[in-house]
Amino acid sequence: MSEPFDAVEVIRTKRDGGRLPDAQIDWVIDAYTRGAVAEEQMSALLMAVLLRGMEPAELARWTRAMIESGERLDLSAGGRPTVDKHSTGGVGDKITLPLAPLVAAHGVAVPQLSGRGLGHTGGTLDKLEAIPGWRARLSAAEFRAQLTDVGAVICAAGESLAPADRKLYALRDVTGTVESIPLIASSIMSKKIAEGASALVLDVKVGSGAFMKDLADARALATAMVELGTAHGVRTVALLTGMDVPLGRTAGNGLEVAESVEVLAGGGPADVVELTLALAREMLTAAGRTEDPADALADGRAMDVWRRMIAAQGGDPDAPLPTAAETHEVTADRAGVLAGLDAYAVGVAAWRLGAGRARKEDPVSAAAGVEMLVKPGDPVAAGAPVLRLHTDDPARIERALAALAGAVTIGDAAPEPAALLLDRIAAD
Ligand code: URA
Repeated sequence: MSEPFDAVEVIRTKRDGGRLPDAQIDWVIDAYTRGAVAEEQMSALLMAVLLRGMEPAELARWTRAMIESGERLDLSAGGRPTVDKHSTGGVGDKITLPLAPLVAAHGVAVPQLSGRGLGHTGGTLDKLEAIPGWRARLSAAEFRAQLTDVGAVICAAGESLAPADRKLYALRDVTGTVESIPLIASSIMSKKIAEGASALVLDVKVGSGAFMKDLADARALATAMVELGTAHGVRTVALLTGMDVPLGRTAGNGLEVAESVEVLAGGGPADVVELTLALAREMLTAAGRTEDPADALADGRAMDVWRRMIAAQGGDPDAPLPTAAETHEVTADRAGVLAGLDAYAVGVAAWRLGAGRARKEDPVSAAAGVEMLVKPGDPVAAGAPVLRLHTDDPARIERALAALAGAVTIGDAAPEPAALLLDRIAAD
């Protein structure tokens, strides 16, 4: 079949800083998805986009072409408002686990098509797979039935949702083109819009453990995503939240499930509770609700939905979580107050202990990870344990310790408490 455009022509336009015409965008995404544009040509185009950027209308068209590469689900038939949440990824970010059942406890349906971890940030599906019996893959019929009966589903996205993104993301990963605001925004939003929720709340992470290291970039990414969602009829709000320090007291799959269950039982670390409630309030507001979600955490309604959600996917909510064969404590080299705990270093350490994967097909350990025994602002005695490393394979401890070199800072006085909620970006 002869093609209407030449990939080299499209690459040259972007290389020279031009705006890609709509017809060329539609063609290049479609032709790449069906294999008619070569990997090396798309690599060159992605690098040109990373270096030259995209205008808002150009990004909107690019995202639309990615959505149209696959199926767009329609979840409106369930009769309830549907609200989804997406985080750009951080260390110890287990918020989806308590959040989805908490919001569903208010009669709002939460369809959460999630991913696996790659690199130093964890993936929601990997965390839930630590629960004995739980399965991530559901048929379309099972997904819809669970959304109606339980109100919350966290499962793997099917192959038919934005297939262009699956190819583009894999290519970006190996061509140094992940860190581009238009490419991240189109990747996330094509999947979220194709998923068919009527509203979306974004948690855009900022700091050492996040993709976006500074607030200005995070704001630009959040603004681009809010504009894309709004243009496609999805009510979209973004919270910018801090990720210089890991969230909560655990990073690692089973460890994070245990911490999430503590939150659902009305306890848990203050930062995890604060962020869960802030995102729940946004999701409920987007669905037109005015209740205070704190009540459903305190009175066990969110826990009830969690138990039904886990059981519906084959999991046993009462089964003990896997424990690691080996633990190792990192101790304070002096007395004082914990002044800093670098999120990126903790994420890399958890990954090296076996909680994360280096390649898509690698298995992960359910038990591996890092437990944070003190958090910034807490006093520490000389020689007291600060971190507990968990692993199935003691040979991994040395490399995890290397990742943590310089990550723990002990000072004489308590640091200024770092704000968790940094900004809110909405269309209105
Ligand atoms: N998550 C995605 O889905 N895509 C990106 O590009 C970055 C994070």
